[in-house]
Amino acid sequence: MLMRPNIILHGGAGRWTRAKHVDKAQEVVAKCTEKGMSILRNNGSAVDAVVEAVKCTEDSGYLNAGVGSVLDFMGGRSLDAGVMDGSTGRIGAVAAVTATRNPVVLARIVMEKTDHHLIGGRGADLLAFLNGLPPLPPPPPHVWERYQEAVKKLLEGKPEIYKKITDFLENYDFIRKIIEEALDTGDTVGAVAVDSMGRLAAAVSTGGVIMKFPGRIGDSPIPGAGFYASEYTACSATGIGEKIIECMVCKQLDTYYRETRDIVAAAEKTIEYVDKLVGENTMGFIAVDKNGEVVWAYNTEAMLIGYYEDGEVRTTIKPPRNKR
Ligand code: GLY
Repeated sequence: MLMRPNIILHGGAGRWTRAKHVDKAQEVVAKCTEKGMSILRNNGSAVDAVVEAVKCTEDSGYLNAGVGSVLDFMGGRSLDAGVMDGSTGRIGAVAAVTATRNPVVLARIVMEKTDHHLIGGRGADLLAFLNGLPPLPPPPPHVWERYQEAVKKLLEGKPEIYKKITDFLENYDFIRKIIEEALDTGDTVGAVAVDSMGRLAAAVSTGGVIMKFPGRIGDSPIPGAGFYASEYTACSATGIGEKIIECMVCKQLDTYYRETRDIVAAAEKTIEYVDKLVGENTMGFIAVDKNGEVVWAYNTEAMLIGYYEDGEVRTTIKPPRNKR
């Protein structure tokens, strides 16, 4: 029996107050959601749809993934991504990639061509090179500008380099400011889909949080946290990676779905659980169930999403908090 395919994409939860390219980001999300849907309508698989939709956002340079990835404390980049095929339970993820343009494509290679689930650092970049994936180009000018602004803001009144590093390592207030900075704009991209065969898939990709400690790895390459797919649900998360890992948010959503058989109820219960466990202003997620119903929930000020309604692609930066 052929099912109704569906897809939803996110461009990150956060405040989106200081992002300079909100219109452009929305345009990208619309285009990439359409790309995923056209794959599904042509009987492509859910895995094809989510990987291509996320790759499209990585290529754009306007979202925090792939080409547009934010910079770490030292001005470097390390990218994370993951993909899961709910119909087979197969998983692929990469962490701390520094030289690969499309970490989500690399995550798919890990899933389909290796016996591993997660490959990190130089090994992941080597796998990309061996598979002919394109290298990561230099950051676009707006990414550098944002980094410079963040450095200026965070280091105000702390002129000496040793003092800066000491503060970074020891000063809680400094770390809090970094998290605030990260929340100022959305972070991370992700997509979930169900195809005409009823197969579910989830994908996610990120440059992580701006000004992160070099080498820090968030939730995005961690199955169950940043992404998860089963025969029932597919979920992709965005927000503060450490908090998302503490909640195992995408696995939690699947557990609630198995109890309720209602994706909206499962999303509501999941965000309540998140609020209780790690507090508000921490994260958001998108999900789809095996019947093709999509849902989102978030506890930040905004979350950029792209989805289909009445056959048309729609994007919004402040969707109603819980879809019902
Ligand atoms: N949610 C992306 C990260 O924290 O790295």
